[in-house]
Amino acid sequence: MSSQYADNSATTLQREVERRRTFAIISHPDAGKTTLTEKLLMYGGAIRSAGTVKAKKSNQFATSDWMEVEKQRGISVASSVMQFEHQGCVINLLDTPGHQDFSEDTYRVLTAVDAALMVIDAAKGVEAQTIKLLEVCRLRKTPVITFINKMDREVREPLELIDEIEDILKLGCAPITWPVGMGKDFAGVYDLHKAQMLKFMPGVNNLGDESIEVLDGADHPFLRDHYPIAHASFKEELEVVEAAAEPFDHEAFLNGNISPVFFGSAINNFGVRDILQALVEWAPAPRPREAKQRTVYPDAPDFTGIVFKIQANMNPQHRDRIAFLRICSGEYRQGLKVKHVRSAKPIRLDHAITFMAQERAHLSSAYAGDIIGIPNHGKLRIGDVITQGDMIELEGIPHFSPEIFKVARLNDPLRAKQLNKALKELGEEGTIQVFDPLEKTGIVLGAVGQLQFETVAHRLLTEYKIDAAFDRVPVQKALWVKGDDAHMKKFTQANANRLARDAAGALAFMSPNRAVLELTMEKWPDITFQSTREIGAV
Ligand code: G4P
Repeated sequence: MSSQYADNSATTLQREVERRRTFAIISHPDAGKTTLTEKLLMYGGAIRSAGTVKAKKSNQFATSDWMEVEKQRGISVASSVMQFEHQGCVINLLDTPGHQDFSEDTYRVLTAVDAALMVIDAAKGVEAQTIKLLEVCRLRKTPVITFINKMDREVREPLELIDEIEDILKLGCAPITWPVGMGKDFAGVYDLHKAQMLKFMPGVNNLGDESIEVLDGADHPFLRDHYPIAHASFKEELEVVEAAAEPFDHEAFLNGNISPVFFGSAINNFGVRDILQALVEWAPAPRPREAKQRTVYPDAPDFTGIVFKIQANMNPQHRDRIAFLRICSGEYRQGLKVKHVRSAKPIRLDHAITFMAQERAHLSSAYAGDIIGIPNHGKLRIGDVITQGDMIELEGIPHFSPEIFKVARLNDPLRAKQLNKALKELGEEGTIQVFDPLEKTGIVLGAVGQLQFETVAHRLLTEYKIDAAFDRVPVQKALWVKGDDAHMKKFTQANANRLARDAAGALAFMSPNRAVLELTMEKWPDITFQSTREIGAV
């Protein structure tokens, strides 16, 4: 962190910022994210027993029930951000919902972190959701730590997995540990930097340093005697890895080009310590953020934060929402007076929430890198900036091109006007993307996950008393279009039947299929088609 403020001897603010590590776990469902989250929290002392995080997931409710359950228990707010301390660092772990919860929120969470931990199921390799999430990391050059999980099972060859990550994700891999065997023959991992073997002992809790047994060198007699076959193939692989694998380069990691790779078994707590160590040692402290007007340094004394997620429906009677805000600079204190940049109005931050050890607690202070929750009644939207300083616009909360498109069908046609208004409000809030066609009536909704439609239906009913269902529309992709005025005018005239405006008024091309899109792009070389749009940038 280089800043004009870092010259003087370190202040409390600088020290607090420097020890923050804010990250999210990304993975495809079932790779072991929940298990690993739990183990990290146990290791960090934030929870005492297994099952605490798992409980959330094991409740396999239907989606609509899930909304109710979530509302009653505040589960998703409580487990959205988990903070704990480890080796002098304050670690903020942000949940990225997976499974049916996959939505734009999942993407947006990644805009609020400084690093990501990618969990790969060693039996499956790189899977669809991981690819999508990693695209966001790449867009923002987020450093990624890789954990290859489930080595206690019969899995794929480690060299093959590394190749796959490099090929499909276009991410350089620097193995830090390498497995010896797998499944019943899993002997442990070899630390390439320390030239030590960490012995795998299933059933041992592995949660304290004292319970991890270390064997020196790659040729320990124990390995040769007890795991002769696994050891022989490990030795062959080690030669390849040492000759061909990328060396770990901290700078390249920080730029998102190289990922340190660890092997382990989350369910056996094996490898968890290595990950925490990597986070503490290598993951970056909060970094400066670019605003349109200037760079915002985390250790600048003025408080600045950006809203990246809205949790609605905690109590529909009051339309109350929690805006999740990433602190980008300065320090939060209770009663802080700030400005809301979009409305240019002052706000007093009185009841911000923190997420210490999974419980909602009112806090008295938080620092750049931390996440706070601000209860409000719809005033705060995604991408909003609040600040004590000058009126700046921060970059970095993009809209992602939706993948599922639907129109609302009213069960009571008399509510059409209210429906349009409600959808626009939900669009502005970031619950779903709305596209208002230039030539047709009827707002098209776009989402990256099915759950977003469930959420909209639920909120329409409970907050707006509108009973609506959704039908698919023949749109496959929406891309934002840009060009100079003359070209845009011609393009708009020629393609009005395929154009729509989103919640911020930006123009998007609604393509029914790939062929139409390719033809249109070919025909209009002066128009750019973008699959992301930053909030605020029209
Ligand atoms: P997710 O959040 O990424 O969706 O995955 P989750 O942690 O729920 O793990 C998915 C399944 O994989 C779980 O099994 C979990 O126990 C198992 N698992 C996680 N880590 C490991 C590991 O290191 N080794 C092995 N062998 N299994 C692992 P499940 O049967 O779906 O659930 P459960 O009945 O165990 O709770």
